[in-house]
Amino acid sequence: MSETPTETDWSAGAAYVDGQVMPIKAARIPITDWGYRRSDVTYDVVGVYFGAFFRLDDHVRRFRRSMDKLRMKPEESDEDIKRILTDLVRRTGLREAYVAMDCVRGKPAPHLPYHPAFGRAYLVCFAIPWVWLFSKEQQARGVHAMIAKTPRIPPESVDPTVKNFHWGDLTRALFEAHDAGFETALLLDQEGNLTEGPGYNAFAIINGTVVSPPRGALEGITRLSVKELCEELGIPFETRPIPRAELEEADEILLSTTAGGVMPVSRLGSRILGNDRPGPISAKLRETFWEKRRQGWHATPVDYDAPTT
Ligand SMILES: Cc1ncc(COP(=O)(O)O)c(C=O)c1O
Repeated sequence: MSETPTETDWSAGAAYVDGQVMPIKAARIPITDWGYRRSDVTYDVVGVYFGAFFRLDDHVRRFRRSMDKLRMKPEESDEDIKRILTDLVRRTGLREAYVAMDCVRGKPAPHLPYHPAFGRAYLVCFAIPWVWLFSKEQQARGVHAMIAKTPRIPPESVDPTVKNFHWGDLTRALFEAHDAGFETALLLDQEGNLTEGPGYNAFAIINGTVVSPPRGALEGITRLSVKELCEELGIPFETRPIPRAELEEADEILLSTTAGGVMPVSRLGSRILGNDRPGPISAKLRETFWEKRRQGWHATPVDYDAPTT
């Protein structure tokens, strides 16, 4: 028997489902909706840290682009979405939160053709306590990764710039890594070039240049932040294909995501990078990223005392 949450039980998180606000435990979607049965969903995740959203406008803009590409048009405007997310965070009181916005396709009404064009899209949002993709300890000593045998699903089949739930390849790669004693995996495309990993973008640092793949990956907001940090710190940044051999020989490897920030890698398969700890450029980028976050870089502070709407 599941326990019924009380009206005021917001500490574990708050959710908005198609116009209704509720404690996270009470949030449900119909199991026959295509969002669930067909992974017919797009989503975005924005972080709240130090009591402020990070790059909120960028996340909502990307979310809208993704919805447009999937031909989803929920009732809420971008301003509504920002207001809903802020309201959810405020209700939880969390100063460090993982804040998701999903657009889910329903299923067509019985009298309509059984086709996605007739499924109504609706919004599901939630704010829960912050999630670290890798613990602070893993980040401090460097993540242990391997190159997966599983290739990334081709962009011609599933557009990776539309944040999506087609995680079959990423999940398979995570199990490959787990079975081989690693914490995560990097996936290559069909031509053998680096794409990304389960939940993050990846960079190779080669001869002092931070290199990121031009295609086959989400256009990560944290990746954009890494690019801006490189410009500020005078570190060359390049976008070009990274073949497997170059990745295996890279001086440093770095991962980036909302749920973790800038995360150095210290092992790639049997290779130990540097001294089995984050390399100097990775460490500098990680440190600067969090220092600037603390100072309010790209921040939208949450007014926790404002009344909830
Ligand atoms: C597959 C994938 N790539 C990259 C990222 C990183 O994107 P962002 O920095 O915008 O969080 C994510 C984030 O969840 C992701 O799921």
